[in-house]
Amino acid sequence: MRIGRRNLMAAGMVAGAALPLAGLSRQAAAQTRASASPRAVTRLAEWRFHLGHAADVEADFGWGRNQRTFAKAGAATADAAQAGFDDSGWRQVRVPHDWAVELPFAPPAEPAGEKTADAVAAHGFKAIGRAHPENSIGWYRIALPIEAEDRTRAVWLEFDGVFRDATVFVNGYVVGTNESGYAPFGVQIGDFLDYDGGPNVLAVRVDATLGEGWFYEGAGIYRHVDLVRAAPVHVPQWGSYVRSAMEPAGARVTATLEVRNAGGEDATGVLRQHVAGPDGRVAVRLPDRPLTVPAGDTISVEADAMLPAPRLWSPAEPAMYRLVSEVRLGDAVVDRYETPFGVRHIRFDAERGFLLNGQPAKLLGVCNHQDHAGVGTGIPDALHRWRIAQMQEMGCNAWRSAHNPPAAALLDTADQMGMMMIVEARRNSSDPVAMDELERIMLRDRNHPCVIAWSLGNEEPHQGTQRGARITAVMQDRVRELDATRPTTFALDNSWDKGVATVVDVVGFNYRTDQMDAFHAAHPDVPVYGSETGSTVATRGAYANDPAAQVVRAYDTEHPWWASTAEAWWRIGATRPWIAGGFIWTGFDYRGEPTPFPKFPSISSYFGAADTCGFPKDNFYYYRAWWRPAEPLVHILPHWNWPGREGEPIEVWVHGNTPEVELFLNGDSLGRKPMPVDGHLEWRVPYEPGKLEARGMDGRLRTARDIVETADAPYRVELTADRRRLSATGDDVAILRAEILDRRGRPVPDADNLVRFTVQGRGTVIGVGNGNPTSLEADQASERRAFHGLCQAIVRVGARTGTVVVRAEAEGLEAGEVTLVVGPA
Ligand code: GAL
Repeated sequence: MRIGRRNLMAAGMVAGAALPLAGLSRQAAAQTRASASPRAVTRLAEWRFHLGHAADVEADFGWGRNQRTFAKAGAATADAAQAGFDDSGWRQVRVPHDWAVELPFAPPAEPAGEKTADAVAAHGFKAIGRAHPENSIGWYRIALPIEAEDRTRAVWLEFDGVFRDATVFVNGYVVGTNESGYAPFGVQIGDFLDYDGGPNVLAVRVDATLGEGWFYEGAGIYRHVDLVRAAPVHVPQWGSYVRSAMEPAGARVTATLEVRNAGGEDATGVLRQHVAGPDGRVAVRLPDRPLTVPAGDTISVEADAMLPAPRLWSPAEPAMYRLVSEVRLGDAVVDRYETPFGVRHIRFDAERGFLLNGQPAKLLGVCNHQDHAGVGTGIPDALHRWRIAQMQEMGCNAWRSAHNPPAAALLDTADQMGMMMIVEARRNSSDPVAMDELERIMLRDRNHPCVIAWSLGNEEPHQGTQRGARITAVMQDRVRELDATRPTTFALDNSWDKGVATVVDVVGFNYRTDQMDAFHAAHPDVPVYGSETGSTVATRGAYANDPAAQVVRAYDTEHPWWASTAEAWWRIGATRPWIAGGFIWTGFDYRGEPTPFPKFPSISSYFGAADTCGFPKDNFYYYRAWWRPAEPLVHILPHWNWPGREGEPIEVWVHGNTPEVELFLNGDSLGRKPMPVDGHLEWRVPYEPGKLEARGMDGRLRTARDIVETADAPYRVELTADRRRLSATGDDVAILRAEILDRRGRPVPDADNLVRFTVQGRGTVIGVGNGNPTSLEADQASERRAFHGLCQAIVRVGARTGTVVVRAEAEGLEAGEVTLVVGPA
């Protein structure tokens, strides 16, 4: 049966298909026997790194030796891949790691084109790519903690993402390759290890010469890597699929578990499973299932159970359950595997929009790339968390991972924090490699309650053609086989009524949202949403266009020809119940694609509601007002420091959501105005230094207030941290905000003081930023100029408990200081 557009989302389930990893070799299998060892998962975080060819080009990859790299097993590969290679001169880095972010800028001689198709501009003008071969290859090495008893185990590596073209070596053997920088992959390594106390070295050669996107993509091992050691009979990577369907008695939870036998003998045992509830207690037990797994095989076992009165997952209450699966052989639990999942029901409806657990839930979405000031694509987990929190502060409930699958860590965090996600394939193609990538992404991600749709492509040139439709249909068929609980979608910038749009379940509009009415009238049974919407460009804190300086004012007026303002989009999106919502382009500024100035020195985009540091621009408050309408807000722009413009009218806007707003200058009312729904207010205010105040009024009640005040000269640095209490996991980070204030504590809106960050105790500044799209200062540094009064430092704390003191000093100013308390992990 072909599942139709309308009934798809209500459909319950399709069995997960088994995709066994390659088995252990016969020799290794012969040595193995049933072992009682439970699985051990070791995160590989501390690596040695070398930028460029490890020794010289010839020794590096064997090309100069008649391409012998792959010729003879183990012995003839690159020198740096060999266990005995001396890497003591290599730097220590912590993964996630992006080496591109530390490279200098290298503008090309020729200016870039209008929409920054130019690869160098698109990638943020970093000195990487074909013109910079010396910076485009990177080598990583790490010693693997292998023990004698691992001889009897299955041992593999799980890479969540390496940008890009990775060759993985263990003890000199090529054990795996993976090209795409966005697809997770696994590599079996048991055969290549030394179990007798000799060294075991994992080396990864990464080649980031080519790109995959038209945006900054980073370089290196920028997502997590895990070493997994498990009993011969075990659950393989991504070997668990859980879904639920609402029934009158509760949620029917169905679990399909793969069990692989990498050993030399057939195994017989029992699979015992239970569901742990959000409180950690056993919520329901699934019936035991007998297991018979022939040697070398992978079997798939299905079980289900009724979960009475489940707590449903939603952004407001992201209740998470866990399926705990135990593989038992005799009395021994040989593997224990946990699968976090959530119980919720989703549906895209052509008339009612997006429904979550049966209720309309407009998608208040943002598109984002994986990129942040200071660290580039190498985002630590705590920073993913902070970025989600920033977007939630704005009122956002959904995130489109553009234009590639996100990091697993981002999805885990989105589950926990209640952020809905659209996961997008990098390549819209039915070729075997693209299909394999799609499968891996789905196998990794299909248990996440946060994931609400699979996006199969974005503005592909063939989107309106029969060929595009054919290719997308092949991808979609595979999606249905692996997960029929979520719809497919595609982000189109034309051809909404043909080609791929006739294939996928939910049609995405990239911009042109004023054409959605006509589309809906012609196709009333097709669910639609804005896959890229709005797209005001703005420089944070700037209030006049200055093309020569590549500055755009932050009023909601400037946008590229293909896009619209925030307000123009949201007045459409908010008022049509059939529009499932939309995803603004973008939540955060990102490196590369420097629009609207596709030329040096603009090195990042200007689209974000927040800048590359996550500091809100004024439009952030437009969305905050209307995406959280029940919480009163007013926000004034611009700042109130206009020396020399006394008496001249200043364009003052107020974003907000209170029924009325009254504006005061130095205590005198400038009038009270009703706030248009989904709109904003404007005044022209003759400048006079002092205090401009907006009072948000609900009848006679003042329910919100904002003040901007004329500031004096910079006097001190105020340093604040997103959290004071961190944990000694080794990779926890604090996000520090340094703000320049005057003597009376007022923000100085044009301050650009150089701020130096120092750390006492076990902590390191791993990156700095200020959100200025034309700043060419180093990201990997411990100092940064403030930009419009603000800059940011990201500080990683060590794996020991204690206190870490961060200071922010600027010449001639009082320093700021924050004490972080690092507690047990
Ligand atoms: C869209 C594209 C995005 C970004 C955006 C800039 O066409 O899908 O990735 O390039 O334009 O406006």
